[in-house]
Amino acid sequence: MSVLLRGMRSDDVQAVAAIEAVSFAAPWSTDLFLQDLRTEGRFWFVAEGDGEVLGYAGAWVLGDEAHILNIAVRDGDQGRGVGRQLFEMARAAVAEAGAERITLEVRASNVTAIALYESFGLRGVGFRRGYYAETGEDALIMWGDAGRLRAPDEMLMLAIESSCDETAVAVIRGGHELLADVIASQVDFHARFGGVVPEIASRKHTEAIVEVVDEAMRRAGEALGREEPLGFGDLDALAVTHGPGLVGALVVGVSYAKGLALATGLPLVGVNHLEGHIFANVLADPEVAPPLVALIVSGGHTSLVHMSEWGVYRTMGETLDDAAGEAFDKVAKVLGLGYPGGPILSEMAAEGNRDAIDFPRAMLHSGDFAFSLSGLKTAVINHIRHEREAGREIDIPDLAASFQAAVIDVQVAKAVRAVKETGVRVFCLGGGVAANPALREALCEALRPLAVHVSVPPLHYCTDNAAMIAAAGFQRFLRGERLGLDAEAMPGLRLDTA
Ligand code: KG4
Ligand code: ZN
Repeated sequence: MSVLLRGMRSDDVQAVAAIEAVSFAAPWSTDLFLQDLRTEGRFWFVAEGDGEVLGYAGAWVLGDEAHILNIAVRDGDQGRGVGRQLFEMARAAVAEAGAERITLEVRASNVTAIALYESFGLRGVGFRRGYYAETGEDALIMWGDAGRLRAPDEMLMLAIESSCDETAVAVIRGGHELLADVIASQVDFHARFGGVVPEIASRKHTEAIVEVVDEAMRRAGEALGREEPLGFGDLDALAVTHGPGLVGALVVGVSYAKGLALATGLPLVGVNHLEGHIFANVLADPEVAPPLVALIVSGGHTSLVHMSEWGVYRTMGETLDDAAGEAFDKVAKVLGLGYPGGPILSEMAAEGNRDAIDFPRAMLHSGDFAFSLSGLKTAVINHIRHEREAGREIDIPDLAASFQAAVIDVQVAKAVRAVKETGVRVFCLGGGVAANPALREALCEALRPLAVHVSVPPLHYCTDNAAMIAAAGFQRFLRGERLGLDAEAMPGLRLDTA
């Protein structure tokens, strides 16, 4: 059903009053509506769908100030953005009529409406105690600068990612346009240990975060053609990765974001790190939209996920033990090739023969979407030991190619099955291992005959970054989702409940 917005007419008043009667404890009568429609400085709009009134909004302009009276949407038509469109219509009309400020009162418990107004840049400035006489409930008074209210595609969000070993901050405008994308990698500090050391990760995040935020604000200012860095007052919202990941690492980003939200009054949104990896595709490819299947392969995860609509996920299967990236890292460590192992091994694999050594393809025929990589890792390590003990030189490119092929064969087979079973027309890859050229190619090749749109993220968005967190967070922000200031880092956060 398409929604039409237009000025309210007297023949709408009956339907409007009916919605009013179920939405407010002290509703206006049809007479009051009719009278107000005839009064100067009053603005009334309705949203119409299938010839019926779905909702309405009203505003008064008094001098340079506008007061939003009420916005209501019919039961059953809520949650589809009708309220947002009505507010935007009223806002544009009062700004046009010369209003500089907008005020309104909203039930203090109506978090959905408050989030909607916040997303237009309004801020809570105080309470009217016991304003709603029938229930004694408080009204939150909200205030915003009518001229400065931004449409969603003008809004600026700062996003923070600190779930593993990258301290990353991005500033995004309108969900798609990146103004800054700064990453401070700690990889050199972990390399000598052959893997991420959690204690080092948290300490390095603490050391880096203030500087990385400052740098992102500076670059965002530059991108907007300003001489000064962006100020926190220029922002409309904040997002942060609140799980899954290393708890001590997540805590740094989450605490910083909560502090910033408290100090600035900006709304804060929590993002699931794995959702971020899916949104690395959304950022780069406008065709990526649900329903879709995503394969997320990183140093910490190997999951096949079905996204039926924006924000709704079902994990179809995941690894029972090691993650794919972890297997790459461990094999590289045994070979003494350095850390992270994925990029080094995949480069070597390009020179080798994938059929040289027959490594196991665990769970290839398990009939489900689960993965297991620890057996493969052990088989590779045993092979290396065996060859060394026998005094034979190991052909590293052949070994790398054979190991990589064993990983890829299972991933591709399960991805194809997941696409067939769900019937989706879009598939995307995400996570650090998505940078692996052989995996990207094998997936594209296997899915092409199924006429599925395959999206692989640009290389710089494969590993951890805050741009992808910003893209995912912005969507959640517009949906009115918020993280409270009592929120905690959630190392085991599941995508299915995100
Ligand atoms: O997503 P990410 O940056 O961090 C986690 O959330 O884990 O992924 C890092 C992982 C590392 O294990 C790294 O070895 C792997 O991604 N990786 C690769 C490649 N590039 C990075 N694995 C295989 N082939 C690559 N080309
Ligand atoms: Zn990651």
